[in-house]
Amino acid sequence: MPEQAVERPAVLIARLLLPAGREPLAAEAELREGGLDATPEGIAELAEGVEAIVADPTVRVDDDLLEAAGSDLRVVANFAVGTDNIDLEACRRREIPVANTPDVLTNATGELALALTLAASRRTTAAEADLRGGRWSGWDPGAYLGLELSDATFAVIGLGRIGRRYAELVRELAGELLYVAREAKPEAEDALDAERVELEEALRRADVVSLHLPASDSTRYLIGAAELQAMQSHALLVNTARGSIVDTEALVMALETGQIGAAGLDVYEAEPEVPEALRAAPNCTLLPHIGSATTRARDAMARTAAENVLAALRGSEPPNRVA
Ligand code: DGY
Repeated sequence: MPEQAVERPAVLIARLLLPAGREPLAAEAELREGGLDATPEGIAELAEGVEAIVADPTVRVDDDLLEAAGSDLRVVANFAVGTDNIDLEACRRREIPVANTPDVLTNATGELALALTLAASRRTTAAEADLRGGRWSGWDPGAYLGLELSDATFAVIGLGRIGRRYAELVRELAGELLYVAREAKPEAEDALDAERVELEEALRRADVVSLHLPASDSTRYLIGAAELQAMQSHALLVNTARGSIVDTEALVMALETGQIGAAGLDVYEAEPEVPEALRAAPNCTLLPHIGSATTRARDAMARTAAENVLAALRGSEPPNRVA
């Protein structure tokens, strides 16, 4: 008797999963892959009948996609720690677990926030652009004067995993270390000699304000015109969290009018669009959402996403379930 082929579950990788995660999935499932240029329509077409969806921050997982996948869907695994691309309520209604990739990108993202802090404080973007553009005419005692960070007051807005790592990294530099969080973190206060304050006080006192909050209705435009006005005119704003936390128009205005000293951004409101006004704004370092872009972090994220999918396919709880 010919052996009957065992049907393998279909898994949709909406765009691209690195080999560290793709290979373990390919060993157990039929993969459908949208590729980097996948459109929402193309992803929905591929989704029909899949048992798992691997999404990433650029892939909107909403009612339409869940509907297109159908009733076999058992898990949505995000190749990211943030889940703001996923309609969690729609997944809950259908009882589809959602999982993410926490911890493995904490160091990488904290380090990038530090890199942006240093770059913005020392105006390295403008200085390097001048050098590359042939506009450097020699050592100039008054050029590119920046903000020295030793003994500066740092405010960490959101002391979750990544905020905590950033706080650890800047502890050595910081004079005062402030943090803003919904709940007090006594262990962190002791370990880092950190002081919990309200947002308004943090903005008023800090030389460096670094954002480490998830995107949500309550964090949307947390930093707008009034908050930027509350900051000191030499202070830096660093955002490696999500673009929606900062009102871009207000930030451009604050940079143009010298209301704040500089900004270091890795995330934007409507990625990959970066408004021309922001690209032209003075004193800002702009990076293309590379917070977790180290080989170690991205491989571990891919592996974690695959583990979440495989657990669900085997009928277990995804280890990093968030909803
Ligand atoms: C995340 O994981 O949420 C990041 O923004 C992607 O690196």
